[in-house]
Amino acid sequence: MGFAFSHKIVMAKTSANFVCAACGNATTKWAGRCEACGAWNTISEEVPLSQSGPAKKTLGNSRGRAVPLTDLSSTEPPPPRVASGLSELDRVLGGGLVPSSAILVGGDPGIGKSTLLLQGAAMFARAGLKVIYASGEEASAQVRMRAQRLGLADAPVKLAAETNLRDILTTLEQERPDLAIIDSIQTMWADNVDSAPGSVSQVRAAAHELTSFAKRSGMSVILVGHVTKDGQIAGPRVVEHMVDTVLYFEGERGHQFRILRAVKNRFGPADEIGVFEMTGAGLAEVTNPSALFLSERGQPSPGSVVFAGIEGTRPVLCELQALVAPSPHSQPRRTVVGWDGGRLAMILAVLEARCGIPFAGLDVYLNVAGGMKISEPAADLAVAAALLSAREDVSLPPETVVFGEISLSGALRPVSQTENRLKEAQKLGFTSAIAPSGGKAGASSGMTLQQMGDLTAFVGDLFGAG
Ligand code: TYD
Ligand code: MG
Repeated sequence: MGFAFSHKIVMAKTSANFVCAACGNATTKWAGRCEACGAWNTISEEVPLSQSGPAKKTLGNSRGRAVPLTDLSSTEPPPPRVASGLSELDRVLGGGLVPSSAILVGGDPGIGKSTLLLQGAAMFARAGLKVIYASGEEASAQVRMRAQRLGLADAPVKLAAETNLRDILTTLEQERPDLAIIDSIQTMWADNVDSAPGSVSQVRAAAHELTSFAKRSGMSVILVGHVTKDGQIAGPRVVEHMVDTVLYFEGERGHQFRILRAVKNRFGPADEIGVFEMTGAGLAEVTNPSALFLSERGQPSPGSVVFAGIEGTRPVLCELQALVAPSPHSQPRRTVVGWDGGRLAMILAVLEARCGIPFAGLDVYLNVAGGMKISEPAADLAVAAALLSAREDVSLPPETVVFGEISLSGALRPVSQTENRLKEAQKLGFTSAIAPSGGKAGASSGMTLQQMGDLTAFVGDLFGAG
């Protein structure tokens, strides 16, 4: 009789101690490469947020408050918006700033985020909002100097140079601004979180405190987030899910164009872009991006094709450039700037399999001029045209734009907004367009429209081959 049980309790390891700085994925062990996002050297150890011992009673057992329920049909007025007057910024926000919204503006260091937001702060302040600009990166004097240089010194913006989140929140509580700009979220330091500024836990905690303050108080908050290349500092992606709107400020070093792109927006269309030009006196709005993107185009030359695209709600024309040259390598190069490398491989495969035009043994370079990034499948046909034009060393007819999606079978698929694309092309002096058959094109545009059903017809028509 009498069995002796040994009560050896094995505590399960409850917390994941390693976090990826790029995507925020948590794991229990270190790895060189993040399983979730594929980034290298981004995983580091972090002290978990809650080390408060065993979990409390589950929420379901305690009595909460019954929340009021409404119907889907209940009529709430659309959110009131304040426009800054900086129309490219207002457009990307979906028509202006929505009260108590949280916005993230991400971008590479040095791309111009602080410049953009200082200009935005000044414009919103002039439009009547109470604006606080809190910088954790620059001293107030530096920000003031920049404002002077940009001719914004008279705007009623309140500055703070501070990184302590508790002090910033207390200030916001007292001042009750309509808009607070936090530059940058990676420099903020919450003293209740036991890890270094810039770590995933710190960035998340700061973003959480600031966005919940915004929701509670009716203030809007704009968080600046640097896109980071190494794993020492958490990137803006770890807070994307906490905010209403995610904007990325993009551009190529050495180009003056900057594109503000909405990748998520609860209060407006995603994919909308605003175009700016970085000048000696700050960011200038570009109201006609097509003219800007085509401004450096010289005479029609082999490999150069103008694509009539749509960005957000606007047609935008830009130039695609291809270079095809015999490769000295056993593995020929495929280099793409401004477009998707996988999509390029697909177009090359379709050209080879359906039209019998091989690219084996040839290096292929594709570039979207002006630092623009294109994600529309409608660029397929323009890419194919640029590749063929470069390979055959034949220029496309001048004043021609190209657009259309290519399927794996080699068929050309019509794309949306044919009419808008044609109108924009005509406005910029183009006289003809090559597009898939079946697209809805009105007779009004006055452009010569060449419509084709598949890629073979296209190759035959333009290059006399296929
Ligand atoms: P900044 O806004 O500080 O970038 P970020 O906040 O994204 O790190 O911009 C810095 C760059 O912008 C810097 O290289 C200088 C350039 N710049 C101009 O060309 N003109 C200007 O009027 C200003 C203010 C900056
Ligand atoms: Mg900055």
